[in-house]
Amino acid sequence: MSADNAPIAVVTGGGGGIGREICKTLARRGHAVSAWDISEEGLGQTADELAADGLACHVTTVDVADPDSVAAALASTVDDLGSPAVLVHAAGQIDFCDFEDLDAGRFRRMIDVHVLGAVHVMQAVLPSMTEAGHGRIVNFGSVAAFSGSARHAHYAAAKGAIVAMSKALAKGYGPRGVTINCVAPGAIDTNMFAQVDETALSYYADNPVGRIGRPEDVAAAVAYLVGPDSGFITGSVLHVNGGMYL
Ligand SMILES: NC(=O)c1ccc[n+]([C@@H]2O[C@H](COP(=O)([O-])OP(=O)(O)OC[C@H]3O[C@@H](n4cnc5c(N)ncnc54)[C@H](O)[C@@H]3O)[C@@H](O)[C@H]2O)c1
Repeated sequence: MSADNAPIAVVTGGGGGIGREICKTLARRGHAVSAWDISEEGLGQTADELAADGLACHVTTVDVADPDSVAAALASTVDDLGSPAVLVHAAGQIDFCDFEDLDAGRFRRMIDVHVLGAVHVMQAVLPSMTEAGHGRIVNFGSVAAFSGSARHAHYAAAKGAIVAMSKALAKGYGPRGVTINCVAPGAIDTNMFAQVDETALSYYADNPVGRIGRPEDVAAAVAYLVGPDSGFITGSVLHVNGGMYL
């Protein structure tokens, strides 16, 4: 498939709430989609939901924190579909605790999954993107990186690092045909949001639009950023939060 016409897309976190919706949206737009996730069950649900819609999806398990696992996932995608020209890195986890209880192990796992995860998946796909002279990468920040929130400083730190890294890489890879942007969701109705603890609920739920976000809201933003009309946008953050952070 040509780079201008719905290229092959990898979606990490493709077995989760937002990632699954991104897989559906991109598949409907003609992308060949490869969903990567640590959860076999989540991937099964993604494949089933796309099939029910008459859409196909390649799936592969991966731990994005492990570069060997990422290399194996990429090999599986390339075998099945070819080299991706779109990467959406939506894999992630949430964790709440008071700062006094935040130990190094807990902090490191957050950094491993979100930040090193982004490093591993980008390093895996960038060589073929730069060789082709075309690529679209969307990483996931969060409103937590911009407006702060109690009890998940390590999550906020990881998301802030992803945003900063994406901006830095946008400068380096723009001349090589690859755009690198972030979406920063607010409260989106998924399993992850269901884990938000009571103390943070009102913080997340309060926004001018007056509702919790839907995975479709985020998927539409991602589809724009990986689509043909966004070639002059790189290093940016698209906030999808109903105005909770302005
Ligand atoms: N839902 C929200 O309110 C919200 C708000 C801001 C940002 N986000 C971000 O959006 C992204 C998607 O979140 P979601 O709401 O769909 O959550 P989700 O829990 O439904 O999906 C996350 C997916 O990531 C996968 N995952 C976790 N660790 C992994 C690993 N090491 N390797 C591979 N896959 C792994 C999980 O199995 C899960 O399927 C995440 O980056 C999250 O931080 C979500």
